Amino acid sequence: MSFPRDLKVLWHLALAPVRGATHAERLSSFYAGQAADYDDFRRRLLQGREELLGSLSVAEGSAWLDMGGGTGSNLEQAPWLAGCRSATVVDLCRPLLEQCRLRIDRHGWSNVSVVEADATTYAAPAPVDLVTFSYSLTMIPDWFAAIDRAWHNLRPGGQLAVVDFHVSRKYPGAGLTRHGWLTRSLLPVWFATDNVHLSRDHIPYLQQRFETVRLEERLAPIPYVPFWKAPYYLFVGRKGTVQAAAGLPSASSPAAAG
Ligand SMILES: C[S@@+](CC[C@H](N)C(=O)[O-])C[C@H]1O[C@@H](n2cnc3c(N)ncnc32)[C@H](O)[C@@H]1O
Repeated sequence: MSFPRDLKVLWHLALAPVRGATHAERLSSFYAGQAADYDDFRRRLLQGREELLGSLSVAEGSAWLDMGGGTGSNLEQAPWLAGCRSATVVDLCRPLLEQCRLRIDRHGWSNVSVVEADATTYAAPAPVDLVTFSYSLTMIPDWFAAIDRAWHNLRPGGQLAVVDFHVSRKYPGAGLTRHGWLTRSLLPVWFATDNVHLSRDHIPYLQQRFETVRLEERLAPIPYVPFWKAPYYLFVGRKGTVQAAAGLPSASSPAAAG
């Protein structure tokens, strides 16, 4: 951690204009100037990634897709990576993927590859055992489609693991946390200035699509903002074999709209 490097990242987060006609161009515009310093700052902001990956039970020979994997920092947090048949980092942002390629070269991983693609449309060449999203769903405008794609890319019984920011519904379902008015109303407006869209519907939709294995809601400190914490969740789900055989409603169904 160094303050001048933090200042550079904070400038990009708070002030630098984001330009571009397409989502991919806007991602490049947002990340190009901070790609090299991304990991250090995000290590403090994006909590729970290491714990989530470390907690997963991943069998030898598994195929893993990390959707919106950016610089590939998750690869270093996955203790089971060496046993994977393949690990694929899928992302739409070229500057971050360049950092990912450097990381792969540095480690000499032969089972890891990078794909520049949209998580909402990417079709894996064969069904995979694990799909992860760490803080990427909130940056994917059509995140319903990204979850649906993950469901289709997974084999029956495969695992989905997600960690991300969110806010609660005003009246959340049983067992879920209710966040205060300020958090529900203002945090999404603030985060949206960086095209990070906090949703009330991630958890309900994930639980509709997958069998819940683990769900935890927590609060993360925000660097340089002492008075406010950002709610985030860890979700691990399984693609049910019964659901897989029956097929599922599309994301645009009324139940999904929450
Ligand atoms: C906050 S970063 C998280 C990166 C990484 N998962 C991590 O934990 O450090 C969000 C990521 O989502 C990616 N992203 C946003 N929209 C995407 C899309 N439609 N398809 C693929 N990746 C996308 C961004 O390029 C960025 O790498």
